[in-house]
Amino acid sequence: MIQLHDLFFKKFISETEINLAVNGVAVQINDDYKKKSPVFLIVLNGAFFFASDIIKKFDGNCEMCFIKVASYEGTQSSGEISTVMGVEPSLKGRDVIIVEDIVDTGNTIEAIIEILRQEEVKSYRIASLFYKPKAYTKDQKIDYVGLEIENDFIVGYGLDYNGLGRNLNDIYKLKQLKMKNIVLFGPPGAGKGTQAEVLKEKYQLVHISTGDVFRYNIKNETELGILAKSFMDNGDLVPDEVTIDMLKAEVVKNKGAKGFIFDGFPRTNSQAKALDMFLSDMGEGINGMVALEVPEDLLVARLLKRGETSGRPDDQDESKIRNRFNEYETKTAILKDYYEAQEKYYGVDGVGSIEEITERLCVVFDTF
Ligand code: IMP
Ligand code: MG
Repeated sequence: MIQLHDLFFKKFISETEINLAVNGVAVQINDDYKKKSPVFLIVLNGAFFFASDIIKKFDGNCEMCFIKVASYEGTQSSGEISTVMGVEPSLKGRDVIIVEDIVDTGNTIEAIIEILRQEEVKSYRIASLFYKPKAYTKDQKIDYVGLEIENDFIVGYGLDYNGLGRNLNDIYKLKQLKMKNIVLFGPPGAGKGTQAEVLKEKYQLVHISTGDVFRYNIKNETELGILAKSFMDNGDLVPDEVTIDMLKAEVVKNKGAKGFIFDGFPRTNSQAKALDMFLSDMGEGINGMVALEVPEDLLVARLLKRGETSGRPDDQDESKIRNRFNEYETKTAILKDYYEAQEKYYGVDGVGSIEEITERLCVVFDTF
């Protein structure tokens, strides 16, 4: 398994199979065109390995030219095609073979054919190494196909995911994460605990509350608990590694879980990185950081109200409450940036009834 940016890919088609498919196409094109002096129109960037391999096997005279269009964003076709680099010199009256790496919806091919019509070519055919018949929405026949594949997103042999993966000699396909792993955030009083209880039932996830994990380890005098306590007794912060090791132990303890709700963790950039690394070793990752967003004044009022009955001293003093918020804001800001950079930050409106908020959270959880 390999990782490109935030996604994991597993081996799908071997170099040997690709070579066979490439050869198959090369032989057919050679037979059909060796007396015609065709122009290979190579669609950049993805098709350049494929083009290179079939053109090297072409026996007659031929020319090459390039076109560059863009349609894909991440792992989805955007539907809008823009020409980044047009054909040059003119293809008027020529027999053109369009060389594509992969035909998916067919939007790209359609746009290129339109360009060829305007160029008044004599004839055109399409050669594509890969073809996704179930995604294809056009009538245009794909004349030469190396391999048909399902609607998977693939990389390798020229194909990329946001720029990476082109240099792989085998083809890899996107691995869907099996787990739902969520970092749940919410300011004090936002009802995070209540929501976590509901969500863990609904999605059958394990709720890892860092506070509980600490208390459990200390109370049961586990090795990590004793270690953590030694720092706390000295008035020092527990080092990240100790906290991370405790959480790893929780994850390992729950082998076979459908996923985890991390609550109260990570709190720092380095913790977030450590969590990513730990999960990626298992072939998993964080699906998203979900943060309940509630205006501060509303929460202060809620907490003061709770303080009247709970007797918790930290809920009775407004300046102490505001302090907790400042701390929360500072910490989330760092993590928000961290997960936003991976496009994994989800802010959820935390004002409303418990049920209303659960519903909004579920909309986000369902996308994972
Ligand atoms: P279409 O316009 O939807 O047919 O998409 C064609 C273009 O999208 C190809 O030339 C590729 O650049 C890109 N593409 C489609 N599917 C994949 C894939 O599975 N991996 C990488 N790129 C892809
Ligand atoms: Mg392409």
